Amino acid sequence: MGDPGFKQRAFSGIQPSGGLTLGNYLGAIRRFVKMQNAGIYETVYCMVDLHAITARLVPPRELIHNTRELCAGFLASGVDPEKSIVINQSQVPEHAQLAWIFNCVARMGWMGRMTQWKDKSGKNAEGSSLGLFAYPALMAADILIYHATHVPVGEDQKQHLELTRDIATKFNHDYGVAFFPIPGPVIEGIATRVMSLQDGTRKMSKSDPSDKSRINMTDDADAIAGKIRKAKTDPDPLPDNLDGLADRPEARNLVNIYAALAETSPQAVLDAHAGALFGRFKGALSELAVATLTPISNEISRLMADPAEIDRILGRGADRAREITAPILEQTYDIVGMVRQHL
Ligand code: TRP
Repeated sequence: MGDPGFKQRAFSGIQPSGGLTLGNYLGAIRRFVKMQNAGIYETVYCMVDLHAITARLVPPRELIHNTRELCAGFLASGVDPEKSIVINQSQVPEHAQLAWIFNCVARMGWMGRMTQWKDKSGKNAEGSSLGLFAYPALMAADILIYHATHVPVGEDQKQHLELTRDIATKFNHDYGVAFFPIPGPVIEGIATRVMSLQDGTRKMSKSDPSDKSRINMTDDADAIAGKIRKAKTDPDPLPDNLDGLADRPEARNLVNIYAALAETSPQAVLDAHAGALFGRFKGALSELAVATLTPISNEISRLMADPAEIDRILGRGADRAREITAPILEQTYDIVGMVRQHL
């Protein structure tokens, strides 16, 4: 993964669609911090506001609030704007500019096969925005405008990353260059998929109508404890091995969340808690969740009280980003045959 000759650079993005959950933290943001601190990669983390308007019209104030809150969530979790480049997508115009070129590389057939497009457009493809259809080409541009080699994403984004690779390959082939790297996903890790507290077969989601189904990164200690206490479970005690969780999606989810928070394996959690009833296990889980999340939620509130400071950080991130993206866009235009004035 990551062609030799390209700098080890990681890029990832999250949509500022409101309401950060424990799923965002355990599934994505915590790994962003680890990769940032690993000292192996240059890391770029992005609020993808251009993507956030593809599915519906978002009230402008809401989009602004969500973008700042997502940025606050990153920073509160340990993303350090000195170590990583932290940006808002629309502030780095080369993303959208490269996306246009990629719209001309990607094929309609490729886009039509994307499961996220099929899910989100549903029976109303005719009424969906062109932006929703083109979403994956913009995502490819997000990654490739940095010549990124590593992309930490959840399972659900694997297909989009595959498409990114197809676009890079076709561009390189069509123009006879070895210009774009072929980036790979970084998926390994525990509990990359956190499920709903009310239905262990569905992903924990900010769009679930029931707030009890999720733990928000902005929840206080009482809210977290209350939601874990009310989480759906079954009357059986915890088993001593993973097979014992096979048909118990809610039980499995709580064990996975515990393991992810404790940074251990689900089997290690069972070794420690086998035979316990959920009343007791939930108490332990709740303590762990509160200890991990309350410092983060407090820090989010503190940061949100000073939006100008967040905007300043994003402005500085955009300046740093453009030192990378502007030359890559220029070279792309050169390759494609767009007249430039070379000074
Ligand atoms: N599509 C991603 C998601 O919904 C968000 C995203 C946009 C992204 N651009 C990206 C993720 C680039 C990784 C890299 O989760």
